[in-house]
Amino acid sequence: MSTDDAKRRAAEAAIDYVESGMVVGVGTGSTANHFIECLAGIKSRLDGTVASSEATALRLKAHGIQVLELNAAGTLPLYVDGADEATRQLQLIKGGGGALTREKVVAAASEKFVCIADDSKLVGYLGKFPLPVEVIPMARSFVARELVKLHGQPELREGFTTDNGNLILDVFNLEIMQPAELETQINQIPGVVTVGLFARRPADVLILGSADGVETLT
Ligand code: A5P
Repeated sequence: MSTDDAKRRAAEAAIDYVESGMVVGVGTGSTANHFIECLAGIKSRLDGTVASSEATALRLKAHGIQVLELNAAGTLPLYVDGADEATRQLQLIKGGGGALTREKVVAAASEKFVCIADDSKLVGYLGKFPLPVEVIPMARSFVARELVKLHGQPELREGFTTDNGNLILDVFNLEIMQPAELETQINQIPGVVTVGLFARRPADVLILGSADGVETLT
């Protein structure tokens, strides 16, 4: 079974968390795209969706699924999104697709965050995947120097601008033993918009797809 099939399995399992009349938060990336395909099959039962990126909004609309502004939707009952790395404590690295800020906002505005991934994303500790940090453009060099002080090696994601008009620094070589503490530290650097650590607000449910089926961690 391919990685993509494993992602699809996780996405299909997440449909069990969707109830009639819900407004569902929808994440970004290839695994979230499988979830969108699944949502299309039950779209008449939804009250709408909130997208975590412009790309996801376009894809939802292409399937005829209503997309609402988060400001109009209020608290969401459910957010479903992928991850770049996940631990058994349901702490995550996200932002490989560059949508981390809106993803973190929608996750924070949701009562339940269901993370979907293929089982290769499960790690003992976070940090092998370079940690994305969204920064405002004028602060790029300053923030990079501050990240070096935290023992990371930041690299500018070349040719990439976020949906919010900002830049991404990908931070290599971090062994993240205390994710919640590092999330706070990086959040406090002036010029940082969002760090792609989801530790202070981890997922509530992690669904891992594999050749054997799905494993659900809570
Ligand atoms: C998007 O910015 C990310 O947070 C994605 O959720 C993450 O990169 C997972 O992507 P895939 O589902 O494509 O692996």
